Amino acid sequence: LFSARIVGIGTFVPPRILSNADLEKMVDTNHDWIVSRTGILERRIAPPEMATSDMAVAAGQLALDRAGVDPASLDAIIMCTVTPDMLFPATACIVQERLGASKAWGFDLMAACSGFVYGLTVAASLVSSGAHRRVLVIGADTMSRIIDYSDRSTCILFGDGAGAFLVERAESGSGDFFGFKQYVDGSGCVALNMPAGGSRLPPSIETVEKRQHYVKQDGAKVFKYAVQQMGDSAESVLREAGFSVKDVKLLIPHQANQRIIQAVADRLGFSPDQLVINIQKYGNTTAATIPLATQDAVNEGRLQEGDLVLFASVGAGYTVGAALWRWSI
Ligand SMILES: CC(C)(COP(=O)(O)OP(=O)(O)OC[C@H]1O[C@@H](n2cnc3c(N)ncnc32)[C@H](O)[C@@H]1OP(=O)(O)O)[C@@H](O)C(=O)NCCC(=O)NCCS
Repeated sequence: LFSARIVGIGTFVPPRILSNADLEKMVDTNHDWIVSRTGILERRIAPPEMATSDMAVAAGQLALDRAGVDPASLDAIIMCTVTPDMLFPATACIVQERLGASKAWGFDLMAACSGFVYGLTVAASLVSSGAHRRVLVIGADTMSRIIDYSDRSTCILFGDGAGAFLVERAESGSGDFFGFKQYVDGSGCVALNMPAGGSRLPPSIETVEKRQHYVKQDGAKVFKYAVQQMGDSAESVLREAGFSVKDVKLLIPHQANQRIIQAVADRLGFSPDQLVINIQKYGNTTAATIPLATQDAVNEGRLQEGDLVLFASVGAGYTVGAALWRWSI
């Protein structure tokens, strides 16, 4: 019997900053509204020549380098994204080649903002089964490519970035994955989606003219769902694993809105020193927020080897995920 542990982390964000002041010049909004309603001060935007795989490779390579692991020893790459380089082949294939992960298989995992939590759970299952020794999980999204910068209700929220964890097989008894609570609710499809570009509405002059290749969101509906379900899933994974809030060093939630994060933390009884919020720097980077927030917590000395960490997310779909890990780097 095997288990899983996290042995490497790497992140990447593009250098260009899109500030609230910049957005004030693009749409009818203002800094105070954005800060008070979302907590976001700025986001990163990839340059035109940069695609999701470029950021994913940078983050993945860093995670491997820091762990001192040869890419040729990877068994699989799980690429979590809703902004693949192309609809097919999978961005995982592009990343595999660029990393030189010569014996790895891989696939794209499309679960929007829950992508990274789902990817970690799949990686843990692959190594715990004994099938694999090393799986690289990458969350990367170039949201700026699918955001409508004339829609003030969405363009203020999102940014670009990438993060990766290297998951390794652990011997019995030394595992660091305590469990997960994950579910999807397809009734949420109407509340958050990108309508065109797939088989339902293939690209046409009409879909472009109607701006259907951009993210559409019923913000208030998603907000309510996120507070409820992120809280419920986080609570039940803790309970089922036999832990309580005070055992958890850090809650690292998906970063979509500071008010969602705070409402979940308040409901569950997490104190400010147990909560990681970095939305002010990056906005919502979809599959990348959880590794980016984890990296910031590590940099600030808030997460150390042996600490219990609870990841929680809600995303388009809806997708819901919460997972309990022990940090082992
Ligand atoms: C999008 C979001 C920030 C909007 O905040 P909100 O408090 O719900 O605001 P509302 O949608 O109720 O809009 C309130 C008013 O602000 C306006 N508004 C919306 N965006 C604005 C902006 N950027 N600047 C100024 N005003 C804005 C609206 O038009 C509305 O005006 P009205 O009352 O005259 O119609 C919030 O709903 C949210 O964060 N939702 C969840 C997002 C999310 O989690 N997405 C990803 C899922 S993983």
